[in-house]
Amino acid sequence: MKLINDLGRHTAAHKDEIAAAVAKVIESGWFVLGPETAAFEQEFAAYCSVSACVGVANGTEALELALRALGVGAGDRVAGVANAGGYGLHAMRAIGALPSYVDVDDTSLNMSPELLDRLLKSDGRAIRAVIFTHLYGNTAGLEAVAQVCARHGAPLVEDCAQAHGAVVAGKKVGSWGVLGCFSFYPTKNLGALGDGGAVVTADEGLAGRLRQLRQYGWGKSKYVSELPGARNSRLDEIQSAVLRVKLRHLDGWNARRRVIAQRYAQGLAGLPVRVPLDHTAAADPGYVAHLYVLRTPRRDALRAHLKNQGIGTDIHYPVPDHKQPSCPSESAITPLPVSENLAIEVLTLPCYPELADIEVDAVTGAVHAWARAG
Ligand SMILES: Cc1ncc(COP(=O)(O)O)c(C=O)c1O
Repeated sequence: MKLINDLGRHTAAHKDEIAAAVAKVIESGWFVLGPETAAFEQEFAAYCSVSACVGVANGTEALELALRALGVGAGDRVAGVANAGGYGLHAMRAIGALPSYVDVDDTSLNMSPELLDRLLKSDGRAIRAVIFTHLYGNTAGLEAVAQVCARHGAPLVEDCAQAHGAVVAGKKVGSWGVLGCFSFYPTKNLGALGDGGAVVTADEGLAGRLRQLRQYGWGKSKYVSELPGARNSRLDEIQSAVLRVKLRHLDGWNARRRVIAQRYAQGLAGLPVRVPLDHTAAADPGYVAHLYVLRTPRRDALRAHLKNQGIGTDIHYPVPDHKQPSCPSESAITPLPVSENLAIEVLTLPCYPELADIEVDAVTGAVHAWARAG
């Protein structure tokens, strides 16, 4: 258990299916924007219950192109959270847009609907879009944030990079916002064998703009660029073929992730650590346990203890966006006490579908030993 996510085990479990899909692409001689990508886009759009999916090169460009498709430009403000790894900030920086940070709720660790409402009341006209990140595979707060956005007429962009397949009130993530952005980085719940991403939407006009934005701004005519801000950001055929195989397993993997998270929650109950879930979460389709993250003010000591036991951990994320050296000085920084505290307290434990119950128990046992030692 040296790794929080063992991709070797994950891929080995489906090696033959994946190898056959890759071989088919190699034999076809068609490697970019061909039949596999078209089929994956159709299948993933149907999976998310929307009409369109546009494959792109990675999740960060999915966010950037989504903002561009909405018309966000240089100097515009975008609301987002500061505890989600800085990907939204990169997307905004590429455009020259500026972040307006909203603190997260201390329980869900997602954007606080109340604080978003306050921001949109005070500064609503300046905010051109709201990015809601389903952090760690947890969708809590989405419905309330969607309502706040609708009330203020602010376009909602979902960052679903950590929540593929999660369902809220019967609707898949990605279908709640005007646009839903996904990363298929290999560690994600649905991961490629390299980089990949997608934007899903029920708005055909936005889908058309995204298709142009991902390929040099070309519209009806090849080699005629119609849109500023366009580039090459394409999902390739091999990755699409791999994703088509893996999409068939996603719901099963998510179910197993939830069981692991529930086992952690039960195993860690009563210890001086805060866990993200109650014990009923294994039945909650709104949670897909992308990362299992606990909280303790003695995070660094626990991390060192687990390392000594041969247990890998990570920190998601150690530096909030507004403290990143690349964060522009004109950013709107209201106090972000919860986000700042999380950077000090969070610790990510191993969590992936192939992790065995006995391994989960070994991790919780090691946390118990640490707590006993005081
Ligand atoms: C929440 C979130 N958003 C966006 C991204 C960016 O995705 P990518 O690494 O594919 O650019 C990631 C992943 O790395 C992520 O976790």
